[in-house]
Amino acid sequence: MGNKSNTDTTSTSDPASGDDSSNTHAVSVYDGAEWHELDVPHGRTLRDALWAHDLSPHGALTRHLNCGGQGHCAACTVDIEAGAEAPDQWLDTFLHAQDVGRLSCQIDVTQDMTIRL
Ligand code: FES
Repeated sequence: MGNKSNTDTTSTSDPASGDDSSNTHAVSVYDGAEWHELDVPHGRTLRDALWAHDLSPHGALTRHLNCGGQGHCAACTVDIEAGAEAPDQWLDTFLHAQDVGRLSCQIDVTQDMTIRL
């Protein structure tokens, strides 16, 4: 009589480890004119998340001339107001120390964030 109800609790996350990789995160982005609310899959780079929502950390020229997210050109900087882990890549660390911003290509979205382009 009918199908057995689906009680599959399989998950890609491990609650014991605090890994919430099956989740998405709310990213609030101010583009200089208005706020945008993005729903971003856990672990996606911030740069890729912005592009996926038709937002860009790049200017008119660097939109076409950049390192493609390799962390070499410093053309994808954003201001982080909340929610990013400490930098662990050399150029991202240097720019952060100089208060220039953060490299969006070197930031994995692992929690809710607030940023300004
Ligand atoms: S795209 Fe070049 S450093 Fe991020």
